Amino acid sequence: MNVKAYYESIQDLMATIEAKWQTANFDAEAFPEIVWEKTTNFDLSPLGEVSNQMRLLELAGVRQQQHRSTFSDLHFQIFHNGRFMIEILNWWGQHVNVHDHDFSAVQFQLKGDALNVEYEFTSEETHGALHFGRLLPKHAEVWEEGGRSIVRPGRVAPHGVFHIGEPTTSLLIRTTPTPRYGAQLNYFPGLAAHYYVSNDIHRKKLTGLGLLARSSRAKFSETLNRFLASQSLSENFFMLIKLAPFLFTAENSDLICNYAEKGPNERRIVENVAFNTAIDFFKQLATETEGLTPSEKLAAYVLSAGHSREAQEKILADLQKKDKAVSFAEDLRSILKKVSAEQRSQAEGYMELLGVGTTGVANIA
Ligand SMILES: [Fe+2]
Repeated sequence: MNVKAYYESIQDLMATIEAKWQTANFDAEAFPEIVWEKTTNFDLSPLGEVSNQMRLLELAGVRQQQHRSTFSDLHFQIFHNGRFMIEILNWWGQHVNVHDHDFSAVQFQLKGDALNVEYEFTSEETHGALHFGRLLPKHAEVWEEGGRSIVRPGRVAPHGVFHIGEPTTSLLIRTTPTPRYGAQLNYFPGLAAHYYVSNDIHRKKLTGLGLLARSSRAKFSETLNRFLASQSLSENFFMLIKLAPFLFTAENSDLICNYAEKGPNERRIVENVAFNTAIDFFKQLATETEGLTPSEKLAAYVLSAGHSREAQEKILADLQKKDKAVSFAEDLRSILKKVSAEQRSQAEGYMELLGVGTTGVANIA
């Protein structure tokens, strides 16, 4: 591949998108349809190869644009004209929580398949930046290699993406963040909140708690309780999420139980921390367990994406409609055979929480 010529053809294509978008007054709502039309006959698949991404770094203009990003395992920005940009996201271990977007885009699935689940969030009660409510799946499908999809801005289409391929590579032609849509929200089974509480102070508190946990349980629990008594519900939620693997253990569960007993809001916070721990557990199990078939991975992700039997059934039914039938119970049973005894016992506990106890697994057709 002649990298320079290929890159120039991308720049030319972006210029035609910008010219067309100007006629729509650079409206974020109009952007995806314009990109969709302009990219219909353009082959972006070479950018799905990490080796080609590396070759792009030979170009000074691309090199200059690189910045640190925690979004995906290997993130590249290869174009930015001040109004919109191209990002390449390579995933082979990390996952993001269910989120909405403060931008619009077209997403190209360049490598590997991914389960995409779109949700609807009904807000019931608001406490500052935190909303309690219910998150239910609205639509599920497998994004197949070579496919593309539209990313809508605002609260209309929160989604979760679960990467089946290794790596899974997607490319976004996306607008810059649009302030009128507000900061992106992250969604959990019973609440929505902003990650922006996770600032430097918050991170230092967590690092300090980590150190205390290793040296003195008494000082750890005293410090944690002091934080929990002086922070917002959002701050407490994101703090407990990070500490969950440590707190949901026989020795430490009293700390989180005491917090849950402080009132109904605290109880809901703890319930969502528990759900998130179960969700992350199965995402990680799907990513890290050796020898899982794509269908077993998909089953683990359906468990993570649906937080109740009803939600899982909705996702499975949508997949079946698109000829992606999953032998849910059979795959879950065979996953349990492929993990260690310790993981199996953890998995059984989390399955219970997600509405599929191991007896439940036996009963699912
Ligand atoms: Fe997204």
